[in-house]
Amino acid sequence: MIGGKTKMAGIMGWPVAHTRSPRLHGFWLEKYGIDGAYVPLPVAPNKLEQALRALPVFGFRGVNLTIPHKEAALEIVDSIDPLARRIGAINTIVVREDGSLEGRNTDAFGFSENLRLAGYENGGRPVAILGAGGAARAVVAALQDMGCKEIRIVNRTAARAQKLAAQLRLFEDKGNIIRIYGWNDAPIALAGASLLVNTTSLGMAGQPPLEIHLAPLPREAWVTDIVYAPLETDLLRSAAQKGHETIDGLGMLLHQGRPGFAAWFGKDPEVTEDLRRFVLENT
Ligand code: ATR
Repeated sequence: MIGGKTKMAGIMGWPVAHTRSPRLHGFWLEKYGIDGAYVPLPVAPNKLEQALRALPVFGFRGVNLTIPHKEAALEIVDSIDPLARRIGAINTIVVREDGSLEGRNTDAFGFSENLRLAGYENGGRPVAILGAGGAARAVVAALQDMGCKEIRIVNRTAARAQKLAAQLRLFEDKGNIIRIYGWNDAPIALAGASLLVNTTSLGMAGQPPLEIHLAPLPREAWVTDIVYAPLETDLLRSAAQKGHETIDGLGMLLHQGRPGFAAWFGKDPEVTEDLRRFVLENT
């Protein structure tokens, strides 16, 4: 039951019907017995500012943002945390006591936590990333913060990868380098890498397959995919067959939800097998 004291949060997107986040936060709210609600909020792109400004009016604690609002929100919120600025996207908004809006990005945290809890340690070794879109920016930032010394970006469109690298190289005080490879040079990028990450939409249900030869990847390298529908992508299946440790993409989605939940509802929630099953139901 939603009442006068219910803590409200939600997710703004356009469209927003496909999102799993209400299941994720709804599971936690029930598990921890919190009087809260997390609702899908379909917001057209030209209404984003109005919708965000209405959050304190309605007493919302905050929201997550998904496609197509993550970049546009940078121009609207009152403050942006350094990581969100670096990534160039906001996925979490916290409404402060005074009604101002704070923009954060928890995708990098979600990515790092998913890998850390699975047991992957970078130890300064090279990493190969497929794709240079919004998801790749969060992954690159996460890897920089993990102490990765060499980040190799493989992308179809060189200009896009160069733009990403230029933006994130500004933050190379972490002492890492970003190298760019065309799709045909993927074997060079994979050679000697300790981790391969797919950040493209290739391999997702309804999208074209991801075609990549894993032979140059060292046997001890880990492979992860940010695609989680299907949970076991072709990439992860063939990597596992070749003896690589694999990490599916669902964990990133679940862990990126934790900081927002903690800020809005006052509890750092746990990612468990029950939660994974619940979020995947009816997919
Ligand atoms: P997101 O924000 O989710 O990362 P995006 O910004 O649209 O999504 O980025 C999608 C990524 O998938 C890009 O790196 C894109 O490559 P381009 O920069 O060359 O467009 C990559 N991608 C999508 N479809 C692809 C395809 N058929 N072949 C190769 N790369 C593809």
